[in-house]
Amino acid sequence: MAKYLVLFGPPGVGKGTQAERLREELSVAHVATGDLFRDNLKRETELGKLAKSYMDRGALVPDEVTIGMVRARLTEADTQNGVLFDGFPRTVAQAEALDQLLRERGGRIEKVLFINAPEEVLLERLGNRWTCKQCGAVYHTNSKPPKVAGVCDKCGGEVYQRPDDQPAVQKKRIDVYLEQTSPLIEYFDKLGMLTRIDGQQPIETVYAEVVAAIGK
Ligand code: AP5
Repeated sequence: MAKYLVLFGPPGVGKGTQAERLREELSVAHVATGDLFRDNLKRETELGKLAKSYMDRGALVPDEVTIGMVRARLTEADTQNGVLFDGFPRTVAQAEALDQLLRERGGRIEKVLFINAPEEVLLERLGNRWTCKQCGAVYHTNSKPPKVAGVCDKCGGEVYQRPDDQPAVQKKRIDVYLEQTSPLIEYFDKLGMLTRIDGQQPIETVYAEVVAAIGK
C-alpha cells in the first residue's frame, strides 16, 4: 500500500535535510512545495512569478494556488508508491485538502513527523544555509559545508543564499509559521498522527529518530 508521510516543522529546522535521505530509503516521491515554487520561479512560469511575490516577503502563497499545484503533482507516476510531503500542509485548509486528495486515491496520512527547535537555532541555521542553484542540495557553513566553497558536491552547481534567508524575511517566516501553521500541531495531535522529534540534535540523530518513528 502507498505510504504517505508529512515532514512538519518551522522554517530552517531541517525538513529538507531529512527528506533528502528519507525519500531514498523509502523509495517514495518527495513533494516539497517550496522546491516546486522555486522550480517554477527558475522556469519563469506564471505560477513562479506569482509565488515569488509572496515568498520574497516571507508570506504563504494562497491556499488555492498551493493546493492546485500539489493536486497536479500527485497525478505524476512517481507518486504511486507513496509521498513524503515537506512544507505541506501549512494551514488547516491545506491539511483538509490533502486528506481529501489522499482519500480519492484510497490512502491517508500515516504519520506527521514534527521536527522542532527554538527560534535562535532556526535563525542560526537559516543565516548559514547555502543552497545549490542547480539541484537544490542544501549546505550549512559549519554543520555541512560543501567540499569546495561555493560549489555543490553533488552536481558542481553554484551554491547561493536564498533571498528569503535574509534576516528580515527569516523573522517574518517564523512569525507566519507561528500564526498560520502551528495550529496544525494540535490538529494532527488530535488525529493521533503526530510524532515529536527534537531537531536540535545532530543531523544523524534526528534521522535515526525519524526512521524509528515510521517503524522502518
Ligand atoms: P520552504 O522552502 O518550504 O521553506 P521552509 O519551510 O521555511 O523550510 P526551509 O526550506 O527554510 O527549511 P528546512 O526545514 O527544509 O531546513 P533545511 O533542511 O534546509 O518555503 C519557502 C516559501 O515558499 C514559504 O515561505 C512560502 O512563501 C512558500 N511556501 C512553501 N510551501 C508553502 C505552502 N504549503 N503554502 C503556502 N506557501 C508555501 O535546513 C536548514 C539549515 O540547517 C541547512 O543549512 C542545513 O544544512 C542545516 N541543518 C539541518 N538540520 C540540521 C541539524 N540537525 N543540525 C545542524 N544543522 C542542520
